[in-house]
Amino acid sequence: MLKGYKSRLRKMQAVQRDSNGGFRTNVEAQVAETQLVRVQQDIISSSVKTAKLSLVIGTRTSRPAVTTAELEQSERTIDNRRQQLLYAISRMNGAKAVAESLAKKRLFFSSLPAMAEPDKRDQDLLTSNAADLVPVETPWRGTPRSPLFLLETPYCQLIPFSPFDPGLSDANMLVMAKTGGGKTVMVQQFLLMAARSNPLISILERGDSYRPLVELMGGRMITMSLDSEQTINPWDLPEGEREPSKDQVAFLKNLTRHMLGEGEAEDTQLLENLITEAILRTYKRAAIRPSTPIPTFSDLRDELSQWRDEEKNQRVMDEAHLAAIKLRSWTGEKGVYSKLFDRPTTISLDNPWLFFNVEQLSEWQDRTEWHNIVAWQRLAEIVGEYVAKGSKVYVEGKLQTTSWEDRQSGARKYRTEIVARDLLLLGPRENSGGDHQRPTHNENQDQPSHAGSGEIVDQDIPF
Ligand SMILES: Nc1ncnc2c1ncn2[C@@H]1O[C@H](COP(=O)(O)OP(=O)(O)OP(=O)(O)O)[C@@H](O)[C@H]1O
Ligand SMILES: [Mg+2]
Repeated sequence: MLKGYKSRLRKMQAVQRDSNGGFRTNVEAQVAETQLVRVQQDIISSSVKTAKLSLVIGTRTSRPAVTTAELEQSERTIDNRRQQLLYAISRMNGAKAVAESLAKKRLFFSSLPAMAEPDKRDQDLLTSNAADLVPVETPWRGTPRSPLFLLETPYCQLIPFSPFDPGLSDANMLVMAKTGGGKTVMVQQFLLMAARSNPLISILERGDSYRPLVELMGGRMITMSLDSEQTINPWDLPEGEREPSKDQVAFLKNLTRHMLGEGEAEDTQLLENLITEAILRTYKRAAIRPSTPIPTFSDLRDELSQWRDEEKNQRVMDEAHLAAIKLRSWTGEKGVYSKLFDRPTTISLDNPWLFFNVEQLSEWQDRTEWHNIVAWQRLAEIVGEYVAKGSKVYVEGKLQTTSWEDRQSGARKYRTEIVARDLLLLGPRENSGGDHQRPTHNENQDQPSHAGSGEIVDQDIPF
C-alpha cells in the first residue's frame, strides 16, 4: 500500500516541476501531495490496517428527458451531482476521484454484478492534453542562453537548443523515428551546427551513412572488427595523470559488470565493491611497472584471480575468482574480444571527428572452445555406448579444478573440468532411428552414500 502511495506522491511532486527543475504552481497536485503525505503518516503512525478499494460511481437524473430543454436541464443536474460526489470523496481520507470521460462504457460494464475487473488505468495524469507532457510545441522556449542548435518550428520560428545547457539534468538526446524517417539526416544537421564550437565528436554506427559528413569535416573513419588491429584501452588515463579519477573508476566498474554479464547476482553491492577495489589495486600495481604503467583488463583478471580478501570472506573470494574466470572471454590470447579492449591503445584519437563503423562486430563469429568433461558410473556407461566423436550432447555439471605437482619440473599445474551430472543426447542416434533425446541422470552423483560403488574419492581421479 505504502509503495503505491509513495509512487503517487513522487508523481504529484514531479508535476510541480518544470523542465528546468524549477517550481511550477499546480494547485491540484499540491493538494494531492498534502493529502498523500497525511495518509502515509496515518498508516505509518497507527496500527490500522489499510486496504485499496476502487469504486465506479454513476450519477443519473430521476426523470427521463424528452425535450431538448429537459436534456439540457438533466445535463446540468448530472454535472452538479458529479461535482458534489467528487467533493465528498476528496474529503475522505486517502481517497481520490476522477470524472471519467473516456472509458465510460467499459467502466459501466465492469461495475455490473459479476463483471468486475481491475481497473488498470493510471489516473494520476492531471492533464488530458498529451502535448502538455512533451515540450515540442510552442511556447517551448528551448534553451535561450545556449543556442548550439537552432530548430525551426512549423511557424518559422527559430528555437535555440543545446543538450549541454546547464539547466538540463543531463546531456543525452534521443532521436526516434521509423527506419528511413530521417534520423541520420537530422543528427548530421545537429552535428554540423554543433561543429561551430569545435566539439569532440565520436560516431558509432552500423554501416557508413555518416561517411560523407565525416569525410567533409576531415575526420577519421575507423572500422571495428574482432580481428582488426584497432584497440582502445579503456584503462587509459588523460595525458599527465597518474591516478584514475572517480569517474574513470566508475566507468571501468560499469564496463566490467557488463562484461561479467547481468547475472542474478544476489549481492550486487558486494560485487560492485569488489570490482571497484580490484580496479584501484590494478592501477596501483601497474603504476610501478616501468614499461607499461597503464593496466589492461588482463591485469584486472590477474588481480581478481589472485584475490586476497583482508577479512578472509569466502564469498568475496569466490566472487573474485568467478569474475576472473568470466573475464577470460574478454582478455588474453583466448579472449574473443581481446583485440578490441585488452591491449594498449592503437587507434589514434587525435581527431575531433571519429567515426567507428561497427558493422562487422554485429556479425556472428563462430569460435570453438574445448572443454574436458568427466562422466562417472552410469553416465560413463551411457557415454561409452552412445556418444561418438562429433555427436551433439547437452551437458550439465559442476566445474572442478584440480592441481598437482609436475614430476619433472616440480611446477604446480592446474586443470579445470566439467564433472557431468546430466547428459542429454541431441540429434539422431548413429545406429538406430527413433527417439532423439534421451535424458539421463547420474543419481549417484547427488547422493554418493547411496552409490553401490561408493563415493568418488581423490584417489579415484587419474591425475
Ligand atoms: N528532410 C529531408 N529532406 C530530404 N531528404 C531527406 C530528409 N530526411 C531524410 N531524407 C532522405 O531520406 C532517406 C532516409 O533518411 P535517413 O538515412 O536519415 O533515415 P534514418 O532514419 O537514419 O534511417 P535508418 O533507420 O535506416 O538509419 C535519405 O536518403 C535521406 O537523404
Ligand atoms: Mg540512419
